[in-house]
Amino acid sequence: MNISDKLRALLHMTESMCVLTGAGISAESGVETFRGSNGLWSKLKPEELANFDAFMRNPELVWEWYNYRKTLIHDVKPNPGHYALARMQELVSDFTLVTQNIDNLHIRAGSKNVLELHGNIERSYCIDCGKFAADVEVSSENKVPHCPTCNGIIRPDIVWFGEMLPEGVFEAAAKAANRCELFLTVGTSAVVYPAASLPLIARKNGAYVVEINMERTEISHNVHETLLGKAGEILPQLVKVKEE
Ligand code: OAD
Repeated sequence: MNISDKLRALLHMTESMCVLTGAGISAESGVETFRGSNGLWSKLKPEELANFDAFMRNPELVWEWYNYRKTLIHDVKPNPGHYALARMQELVSDFTLVTQNIDNLHIRAGSKNVLELHGNIERSYCIDCGKFAADVEVSSENKVPHCPTCNGIIRPDIVWFGEMLPEGVFEAAAKAANRCELFLTVGTSAVVYPAASLPLIARKNGAYVVEINMERTEISHNVHETLLGKAGEILPQLVKVKEE
């Protein structure tokens, strides 16, 4: 993979970087992406599982599905792409990692202050009192967890279709996109908004925008460079340049 002179020079000097990741960064860990011929949304209907009405209609089914995914995700490990971004954070003083992923793999790889736009499968909260819970147990005896404080139904802390993003998280991401010099968009098809607007915000405010993906995407024509290939191979190379 060829790193352009422009990107090489920027990596050397920049102290301000923002990175947006999507499902593609976790693909090499074995977590399925959403789109594409083998993607999750080609097999499942999000309208039956990933929205609040579906949850209220059948919380058992929705919990069964998230519990299944949680088990799968527990068994996978962060890959060199996740570790490269955790390392990059140590090398760049103003570094912001924004993710659309709910798989917790950035945090497991050591990244700090991750802005999680779509929630985290490791967390849940009560739909009545809003209290957060970690490690909620779902089993054949306890198919729908209830809040120990108010007995309300507990739901996964995942942003479903038609829902607002967690308060303040997108705003913080947009601020980082606004002020950064280098913006990387990694492993995302860039079709889900407002996440997909972050590279555009960055570019509008003068950042150099680089896309890392297996294929060209919706925003390829709006970035300065697209590096085609695996995130787990390209990101460690960018870290190496930064370390030079
Ligand atoms: P997608 O599944 O839409 O896109 C994943 C992208 O990663 C595709 O463009 C792939 O080509 C690319 N890709 C696959 N393997 C890769 C690798 N090893 N290295 C680099 N790129 C690779 O996933 P997202 O863009 O994350 O939202 O989807 C955005 C949102 O849509 C998700 O957060 C989810 C979904 O509905 C919610 O659940 C709220």
